[in-house]
Amino acid sequence: MNSRIIDPRAEGEDNELDTHLRPHDFAGYVGQNNAKAGLTIAIQAAKQRGEPLDHVLLFGPPGLGKTTLAHIIAHEMGVGLRATSGPAIERAGDVAAILTNLQDNDILFIDEIHRLGRPVEEVLYSAMEDYCLDIIVGKGPSARSLKLDLPKFTLIGATTRVGLLSSPLRDRFGATYRLDFYEVEDIEKILRRSARILQVDLPKPEAELIARSSRRTPRTANRILKRVRDYALVKNSGVINSVVVQDTLNLLTIDKLGLDEVDRKILRTLVTQFKGGPAGLSSLAAAISEERQTIEDVYEPYLIQEGFLQRTAQGRIATDKTYDHLRLASYKPKLFVS
Ligand SMILES: Nc1ncnc2c1ncn2[C@@H]1O[C@H](COP(=O)(O)OP(=O)(O)O)[C@@H](O)[C@H]1O
Ligand SMILES: [Mg+2]
Repeated sequence: MNSRIIDPRAEGEDNELDTHLRPHDFAGYVGQNNAKAGLTIAIQAAKQRGEPLDHVLLFGPPGLGKTTLAHIIAHEMGVGLRATSGPAIERAGDVAAILTNLQDNDILFIDEIHRLGRPVEEVLYSAMEDYCLDIIVGKGPSARSLKLDLPKFTLIGATTRVGLLSSPLRDRFGATYRLDFYEVEDIEKILRRSARILQVDLPKPEAELIARSSRRTPRTANRILKRVRDYALVKNSGVINSVVVQDTLNLLTIDKLGLDEVDRKILRTLVTQFKGGPAGLSSLAAAISEERQTIEDVYEPYLIQEGFLQRTAQGRIATDKTYDHLRLASYKPKLFVS
């Protein structure tokens, strides 16, 4: 398993940290003001009407708070939440069993919903629309279709790849929220909150330094904080100062813009082997021996957001900022336009 610090996908060692540091209500959930504002109104309205919340689709890169938000919605609605994931539901019968066991207004959270199999997805259509299941009983000419009523539930789907969702499924969500990378100040707030929970003293300049190296991603920020805390304990009697933070970042090979080894490898390869692009995703993936999907889901969104990489119909292109940051100016094409 990949144990790199940047990779914002959840991992074993992280689950505990995630649960521990996860805010439980909107008050503790920093940033994502669009999603929070829309959801606050929708939740209040649903509660006043005594009805379940409309189905919600959350999408965005890993580590930005989708799972956290789903739990907060359940908490704010005062209802139960059953969590599962696309790959975990193998057969249509599995999802039928989960649905029939819900209480009215409960939430079913399906992570990685883009990985649901087609038969499972088809069961969800009528479940989401009419709170019922169409099941076929018997075989051949004597087969009959039965309608089974379900509790009135809310489906919350989370995905990193909204483009992979079929349109009939996407259309059945009443609201879709895209989670964005956080402002550095918001990451700083999250870090200070985490430090309080972990009972470590994190001075403001150090919080800022970690925040700027965290790819604007809460999970990465919390992970770095944990490493900083360990380093401080071993090397500096538990005191966090800027030397401790810098040493930890160096150990993790995270540079001052928050890029790590793989980020730099992607960019360097693009510049040195593909003349700055355009390079196709598959060729780039092959050149650095990473999976295509990992590059697309985990690395690219941040590199694009920060202006290191452009995605065009012809392929990936390095920008001026890339040449400058990697000090590869000598590779710059003569007529380079960024
Ligand atoms: N808005 C936020 N405010 C505070 N902490 C957050 C926020 N979003 C995420 N986190 C922290 O980051 C961790 C990862 O978030 P998570 O919801 O698991 O991300 P995702 O499901 O999008 O991959 C959480 O455990 C939580 O500690
Ligand atoms: Mg998640």
